[in-house]
Amino acid sequence: MADLDGRAIVVTGAARGIGAALARGLAAAGASVALADRDLDGARAVADEIGGRAIALSVEVTERATVRAMIATTVAAFGRLDVVFNNAGIVETRDFLEISESDWRRMLDVNALGCLIGMQEAARRMIDQGGGGKIVNTASIAGRQGSPALAHYSASKFAVVSLTQSGARALATHGITVNAICPGVVETGMWDIIDRGYQEQGLTEEPGEAFRTLAARAVLGRPSQPADLVGIATFLASPGSDFMTGQSLVVDGGIVMQ
Ligand SMILES: NC(=O)c1ccc[n+]([C@@H]2O[C@H](COP(=O)([O-])OP(=O)(O)OC[C@H]3O[C@@H](n4cnc5c(N)ncnc54)[C@H](O)[C@@H]3O)[C@@H](O)[C@H]2O)c1
Repeated sequence: MADLDGRAIVVTGAARGIGAALARGLAAAGASVALADRDLDGARAVADEIGGRAIALSVEVTERATVRAMIATTVAAFGRLDVVFNNAGIVETRDFLEISESDWRRMLDVNALGCLIGMQEAARRMIDQGGGGKIVNTASIAGRQGSPALAHYSASKFAVVSLTQSGARALATHGITVNAICPGVVETGMWDIIDRGYQEQGLTEEPGEAFRTLAARAVLGRPSQPADLVGIATFLASPGSDFMTGQSLVVDGGIVMQ
């Protein structure tokens, strides 16, 4: 599937997990990929493994100046910017009644404001270079349905779905499309955090139980791996998706259906 030849793509949160898999898959499809993360060493390790034109960049998605620098460095390296994947995110479990103002702010800051800044800075560059381009945000099935132990995370992902729709409407006149991917229960380091949180709240008893139980809801009968998101990501970065905008597509093995 090499239909991304010559495309210049940024992926945030690319040091590990879903972002690393997207970067590998997009590069394999022919794209030049900038892997951005606050974990620069991790991003470097994945970029080195990809080889070719892959580069690693440091970014803190809540700090606009670093996002601007990420875009500028990508353009300096690849000559232009075609697609940005706003994928970086954090998770945290909390009993619903215990979510504090600082929990809420930290979560919404990274997952929602970080996404907005990424969209704005990507769009500014795309407009400056004459319009056209694609923005792809990582939302979640938690952005489609509320969750008792992840309410603030879920709210942040509903915000990503909403920003995807608003951005699609706002940026269409510049030829920029905005879509989102909603993964399900994907086996990454994020689940170590969720699993621990579930045990601390007494919702599960054993390590790995939260992941196993929730992943088992997928009707396709196996837990999701980061590579399961590569097909949709490649499509959303390719000309095949040019007439699609404002959509948040669930790729979860059939947990959520709507
Ligand atoms: N794993 C899942 O089951 C799942 C399901 C649905 C959605 N998602 C979403 O997918 C995305 C990737 O998740 P993952 O499972 O790969 O998580 P992960 O924890 O394995 O990787 C997240 C990456 O984002 C980086 N990051 C976090 N905050 C950052 C910040 N402020 N600035 C820059 N980089 C930052 C981390 O350093 C890390 O490399 C997230 O947005 C997450 O909410 C994950």
